[in-house]
Amino acid sequence: MSNVKQTLSIIKPDAVERNLDGQIKEEFLNNGFKIIQEKKIQIEKQEAEKFYKVHETKPFYNDLCSYLSSGPIVVMILERENAIIANRELMGSTNPKEAAEGTLRKKFGISIDKNSVHGSDSEENARIEIDFFFKS
Ligand code: CMP
Repeated sequence: MSNVKQTLSIIKPDAVERNLDGQIKEEFLNNGFKIIQEKKIQIEKQEAEKFYKVHETKPFYNDLCSYLSSGPIVVMILERENAIIANRELMGSTNPKEAAEGTLRKKFGISIDKNSVHGSDSEENARIEIDFFFKS
């Protein structure tokens, strides 16, 4: 049975700033993802606060929201069989220092904050995050 799903991916400011967005998109395509929609935008800190609301009690919340709104990002709807899990595997651990060889965060990430990519962590959050950026 087909289990094709969609997930939300963000290429974060550190990667866009280093002109890595083309290379990262290639990685998604080479790993069987279709890019259904994409846009390059810069968001306000208030929008970042809404997007990362699940982390609002964490000590890193303020810096995280400042960072996501600090420069252009590329947001994408990715589609693939088991897209949410597949994207999390491709991204690797949150901290690039702990990420496995060959993963995006290992290849491109600089630090736990500047870890180059975000991906939805569940089907429910994928829907919420896709609607956040793409619902008209
Ligand atoms: P992301 O997958 O976008 O989700 C939340 C982000 O918070 C995470 O990637 C990291 O870039 C950032 N972050 C900063 N500090 C931490 C931490 N201690 N634990 C988890 N995430 C962190």
